[in-house]
Amino acid sequence: MNRREFLLSGVAALVISGPAAAQMQDHSKHGMDMPGMSPGDGKMAAPGPLPTLPEGAPLRDLPRLANRASGPERFEAELTARPATVRFAEGIETPILAYDGETPGPLIEVTEGDKVAIRFANRLPGEETTIHWHGMPVPADQDGNPMDPVLSGADRLYTFELPEGSAGSYWYHPHPHGRTAEQVYRGLAGAFIVKPRQDPIPAAYGDTPLFFTDLRLASDGSIPANSMADLMNGRVGDHVLVNGQKKPVLTLPAGSRRRFRLFNASNARFLHLNFGEAPVTLIGSDGGLLEAPVTGLRTIALAPAERAEIIVAFDVPGRLMLRTEDVDHGWMGPGRPDTAADVMTIDVTADKAEPPPPLPAKLRSIADLGQPVVRRRLEFTETMSMGEGGMKMGFLINGVAFDMNRVDLVAKAGQTELWEIANLADMDHPFHLHGTQFQPVETERDGRASKAPYRAWKDTINVARGQTVRLLVRQDHPGLRMYHCHILEHEQLGMMGVVEVRA
Ligand code: C2O
Ligand code: CU
Ligand code: CU
Repeated sequence: MNRREFLLSGVAALVISGPAAAQMQDHSKHGMDMPGMSPGDGKMAAPGPLPTLPEGAPLRDLPRLANRASGPERFEAELTARPATVRFAEGIETPILAYDGETPGPLIEVTEGDKVAIRFANRLPGEETTIHWHGMPVPADQDGNPMDPVLSGADRLYTFELPEGSAGSYWYHPHPHGRTAEQVYRGLAGAFIVKPRQDPIPAAYGDTPLFFTDLRLASDGSIPANSMADLMNGRVGDHVLVNGQKKPVLTLPAGSRRRFRLFNASNARFLHLNFGEAPVTLIGSDGGLLEAPVTGLRTIALAPAERAEIIVAFDVPGRLMLRTEDVDHGWMGPGRPDTAADVMTIDVTADKAEPPPPLPAKLRSIADLGQPVVRRRLEFTETMSMGEGGMKMGFLINGVAFDMNRVDLVAKAGQTELWEIANLADMDHPFHLHGTQFQPVETERDGRASKAPYRAWKDTINVARGQTVRLLVRQDHPGLRMYHCHILEHEQLGMMGVVEVRA
């Protein structure tokens, strides 16, 4: 029996929440052992109707982290991770983990060139954590690696300077060894926007972050632990939230052009977003603006952790829906959820907006990284085997699971490399690299290669099952950097490695 048949035989349908969560930590280095599959093993959530979330409130602005610096070109703040409760559903308090009591955490907005100092307090009882500044060019020892935990009750200062050219849409989230997935789905994630000193996008378009998270609530309003199916496929909950709200409403006058920053901050949900009939122009990727706008798009696909900047033209009065379409990314076992969802309503009113200024034809230039002097190949595989304790599943890169004490690759700062990421597995795996932005060169499937249509800075890219992706990579700072699948359950189960960048 091959792996897929084995799963389809129904094993994966068993939900083993409590024990599986404990298992995941014990076995995070070696994949997971599935214990005897008697239904009694599973702590099922208490029966009862699932809570419904109120919809239709006006889209809220993300709360902001206040800058306490007294001088210019500095951002100084404090941020605390601690348990909190939030009222997602009417009359039900949901215990969460939160930055400064909020989920998503406060929006951090700085300007390129700023010196950033954030004093972080870990007030999560009995849990270590870190803050990882996803996608940002920060020194390795400030990047919240799992090797640098902030112990429960401890404080630490994160400091870094954001260089010229680093403007973009980033985010921050925990990265502790073995607990990242759980800390994120319990609420710890926030947007981090680096503004350019001079923005080529007309101010009349606004600048609206849409921070997408994923939520599952049990009937008692609590957030249930990961099940076996979640561990295997990555956790896909029951609700897509935008800025922490279910299906909020944005009201705009006809003729508006809006700039949106889209963040996929879910553990494992692939978003395939469209605004109905409204035309979408792509202007930016993970690491900031493109060189030129890409017009005429209908769908923006964002794998977990990816971001995009877009302009949407709302010319026709009426009601539009921001919707994410259902797409299968290689679900293992039965029970694949229908991931289509209406995410936000846009009410375009009949009163005319001021005619907006046009979008410039050139947004910026993106550096040519030159010819690579090193080539590497990373292979994603999934393994499944029967062991003493039951079934063992592994999520591997180049045949091995993550080991914090092992260096997998050694690179030289300032040198351009070509990374080939081959997905030999049955599920899509979004590849992410810390410490730098890379440039996609081409993708290949069944021997057919296609060139990247435009130059872009990325730190996360989906590698579909059966696909090979080639990237130009240059790390400019020395230190240890992680690379991993950004389905956080897969990262946790071993699909991660370490590159040591030497000066
Ligand atoms: Cu967004 Cu290593 O993570
Ligand atoms: Cu990262
Ligand atoms: Cu994965």
